[in-house]
Amino acid sequence: MLIGLTAFAGFAVSGAFARPSNRGSTLATCDNVAHGYQCDNAVSHFWGQYSPYFSVASEIADKVPQQCEITFVQILSRHGARDPTASKTASYNATIQKIHANVKNFTGAYAFLADYEYTLGADQLTTFGQQELVNSGTKYYNRYEQLARHLTPFLRSSGEARVVESAQNFTQGFHAAKLADKSSGKLDSAYPYPILVIPEEDGVNNTLNHGLCTDFENGPDGDIAADAQATWTSVFIPPIQARLNAALPGANLSVTDTVSIMDLCPFNTVASPSGTISAFCALFTEAEWHQYGYYETLNKYYGYSYGNALGPTQGVGFANELIARMTNEPVHEGASTNSTLDSINVTFPLGRHMYADFSHDNDMTAIFSALGLYNGTDPLSNTTIVEAAQANGYSASWTVPFAARAYFEKMQCHAHREELVRVVVNDRVLPLTQCNGDSLGRCTLSAFVDSLDFAKTDGHWDQCFV
Ligand SMILES: *[C@@H]1O[C@H](CO)[C@@H](O)[C@H](O)[C@H]1NC(C)=O
Ligand SMILES: *[C@@H]1O[C@H](CO)[C@@H](O)[C@H](O)[C@H]1NC(C)=O
Ligand SMILES: *[C@@H]1O[C@H](CO)[C@@H](O)[C@H](O)[C@H]1NC(C)=O
Ligand SMILES: *[C@@H]1O[C@H](CO)[C@@H](O)[C@H](O)[C@H]1NC(C)=O
Ligand SMILES: *[C@@H]1O[C@H](CO)[C@@H](O)[C@H](O)[C@H]1NC(C)=O
Ligand SMILES: *[C@@H]1O[C@H](CO)[C@@H](O)[C@H](O)[C@H]1NC(C)=O
Ligand SMILES: *[C@@H]1O[C@H](CO)[C@@H](O)[C@H](O)[C@H]1NC(C)=O
Ligand SMILES: *[C@@H]1O[C@H](CO)[C@@H](O)[C@H](O)[C@H]1NC(C)=O
Ligand SMILES: *[C@@H]1O[C@H](CO)[C@@H](O)[C@H](O)[C@H]1NC(C)=O
Repeated sequence: MLIGLTAFAGFAVSGAFARPSNRGSTLATCDNVAHGYQCDNAVSHFWGQYSPYFSVASEIADKVPQQCEITFVQILSRHGARDPTASKTASYNATIQKIHANVKNFTGAYAFLADYEYTLGADQLTTFGQQELVNSGTKYYNRYEQLARHLTPFLRSSGEARVVESAQNFTQGFHAAKLADKSSGKLDSAYPYPILVIPEEDGVNNTLNHGLCTDFENGPDGDIAADAQATWTSVFIPPIQARLNAALPGANLSVTDTVSIMDLCPFNTVASPSGTISAFCALFTEAEWHQYGYYETLNKYYGYSYGNALGPTQGVGFANELIARMTNEPVHEGASTNSTLDSINVTFPLGRHMYADFSHDNDMTAIFSALGLYNGTDPLSNTTIVEAAQANGYSASWTVPFAARAYFEKMQCHAHREELVRVVVNDRVLPLTQCNGDSLGRCTLSAFVDSLDFAKTDGHWDQCFV
């Protein structure tokens, strides 16, 4: 199967989400529809791509400006919180086994480790992660109610199970919000909404998943991120490693083990259905969480963004699809687009007002970069922390946390003849200086599209094959 237009007739709206979560949940949870994860923010908002989605502070208000009406919105979403990947889960477990085999005495903040059992799975969404996407669908409905009352988004998902399930959970939240909206007529015969699933197998042109850029996948470019992280690790990990080894006599934790113990904070937190902060988190200081967040930022920046010569290139296909949708013109083919899919209106309809696509953190990073977002001048340092506020708002946790969502909006405003474009990433309105964004972060559609030369000229795609 290369492509499935799946209607998912199998699932029904269960009681768990028939009541929209924005009406006040009875579960004590750190997560909410409007602002996402809000528990121990000084720590949890610094977990890089392992932070659960939270509203990033925005200098520009993210509400719809006065005398404007939203005419178009594309959401690009990451899947929700998941278990560690299979290889990571094996290595975390090995670190825990090693501690249990060698440490006899657990005291103070480490006491919980005596009875800690490694039970995390691999690759799948956690219950908390599913709920994040239900909440995201609800929020999207509420935020774009004027459109959403009458319309259903055109949905696509990359093929991995956790991404497809995230798309399904999003539709559940959207649908429940629609049914709860007194003005929507309480009918939603289009549900369950079709989701176009694009497989992730080798050789498939999938604008929501990388894999086609041969020199990136096989060549030295794929190692830049690991090199940058290794340099940063040698700066910030030794004192942490020494402290843990002193507190856990016999453990003899390596650098990798030490990073793993830090990873176990976010992963055990999102394994809790309510997102209860894990005991692992208290083993580290706030300053150390900033360092850890930066470690994850380096991975994204040198893997899929401006720090990698072939990073932004891999987001070009989606960027061209976005241009097509915003301008209502056929897709400029090339890069990772699939002409078979993009040339027919069943799989690539133009003229719709609401689109929703589901993908991964790496792919979203490449797409943001292909669109010229967060394009700062200085490459990120491998030896000195650069906080998001000093990096044009760029960090892994501000851009691609679990259940991250970017809104690409068009709006029609009274004072302007031409439609305006705005980009909102995790509730932070980007200033869009690259197309002379106004004080509300808006560019005219033509100025926005003019700023996308990198994508329109296929952004070095040929260099994937030299
Ligand atoms: C465990 O460590 C504590 C604090 O260092 C110490 O007081 C205690 O004697 C130790 N217990 C054992 C059984 O070694
Ligand atoms: C962790 O490793 C132990 C020892 O190899 C194994 O028995 C256990 O099943 C593993 N647990 C998980 C959740 O993978
Ligand atoms: C997410 O969707 C899956 C698949 O439809 C469903 O089994 C699960 O219950 C949903 N999760 C939540 C929290 O509603
Ligand atoms: C493009 O999509 C079609 C499905 O419509 C599929 O049959 C074909 O294999 C895809 N081609 C590539 C290169 O991904
Ligand atoms: C960080 O490390 C990467 C990988 O070695 C390298 O390409 C990059 O130039 C380094 N960045 C800086 C600012 O030195
Ligand atoms: C600690 O681990 C290192 C490998 O990471 C090993 O070379 C060393 O011998 C170990 N030390 C002890 C005391 O076990
Ligand atoms: C898939 O992408 C390649 C470039 O990587 C391109 O040559 C090919 O024509 C594309 N296939 C389709 C069906 O668009
Ligand atoms: C889709 O394309 C077909 C054939 O080109 C056309 O007949 C049909 O009206 C189009 N449908 C929509 C919804 O645009
Ligand atoms: C990012 O900025 C640099 C320097 O101005 C420019 O050369 C590059 O084309 C920009 N990248 C994108 C994707 O816009």
